[in-house]
Amino acid sequence: MKKTNVVKANKSSILKAAKILRNGGVVSFPTETVYGLGACVFNPKAVARIFEIKKRPAFDPLIVHIAQKKQLYLLAEKLPKKIIKIADKFWPGPLTLIFEKKKSVPDIVTAGLKTVAVRMPDCEIATKLIKLAGQPIAAPSANSFSRTSPVRAEHVRKQLKDGPDMILDGGKTRKGIESTIVKFEKGNLYVLRQGAVTVEDIEKKTGFKILKSANSKILSPGMLKKHYSPKAKVIVVKNEREAQDNNAAYVAFKNAPKKKFKIVKVLSLKGCLEEAASNLFDFFHELEKKRIGKIYIEKAPCTGLGLAINDRIKRAAARK
Ligand code: TXA
Ligand code: MG
Repeated sequence: MKKTNVVKANKSSILKAAKILRNGGVVSFPTETVYGLGACVFNPKAVARIFEIKKRPAFDPLIVHIAQKKQLYLLAEKLPKKIIKIADKFWPGPLTLIFEKKKSVPDIVTAGLKTVAVRMPDCEIATKLIKLAGQPIAAPSANSFSRTSPVRAEHVRKQLKDGPDMILDGGKTRKGIESTIVKFEKGNLYVLRQGAVTVEDIEKKTGFKILKSANSKILSPGMLKKHYSPKAKVIVVKNEREAQDNNAAYVAFKNAPKKKFKIVKVLSLKGCLEEAASNLFDFFHELEKKRIGKIYIEKAPCTGLGLAINDRIKRAAARK
């Protein structure tokens, strides 16, 4: 069996990774949100391997990553003014926008949808890789289906074993949770997934109103109830009084519990939402490595980035 190379990202390894992509390979690379598992968007065979490696169902479309605005013309049939205004304010950055797709975008990328999800990551390694690959890169998060997204190269290696042809190690990702997804439909803007950019921020910087989608499952087929899950049983608690099992781990939002637990983690001692977001998945992976069977976790305050954090916690705790 081949052994996947985990290599520190530098000029020569990025060049090598780009060559692998150009030759139809699959490479895991860091972005500012989570690690992605990428293939050249116009190579359906290579994209099919992403689905295989992740064991991702074919109904769940991928996000296409671009390095320059001009690459959008290769993917999007129309460029609605409102969406372009949002892109101008937030790209590069952790915001994914949905466009009507060009015929040339393979159906396997969009799971047969007429739309394509696009984002421009704010991460030098990703940008260099995409530029050198010479075309946009389709990439979901580099976890196996329904499991916790990776925020370090070793998380990818652990979950996907020898699946990818190469894993570029860029250290821990800055944001720690996935991009926000926004769609323009019949004159309205909808948020399909809360993520690393807050809806308030988009509204403030553009003056647009963003609506919550009535049925995000249909609009965004990948938003499943159970998702982002570590192997451990995750139980959401209001406070330590609801946590009885001292053999479990306890993940507090801001204040460490007084009771004893096997492991205690605090998402942010300062109560900072950005810091909490960047720690959430990292803690899940760490607790998994330590073979913790049960995790109690407190929710974040329900404002700003707290909405995205709580969405991930809720799905990680869902049984099915
Ligand atoms: O931060 C991120 O977005 C990371 C990094 C790697 O860029 N990527 C990521 O990809 O989270 P993934 O595949 O784990 O999540 C993509 C989500 C899924 O929920 C999928 O259903 C949705 O995007 N999506 C993709 N194409 C779509 C489309 N055309 N319409 C609606 N939702 C779409
Ligand atoms: Mg994912």
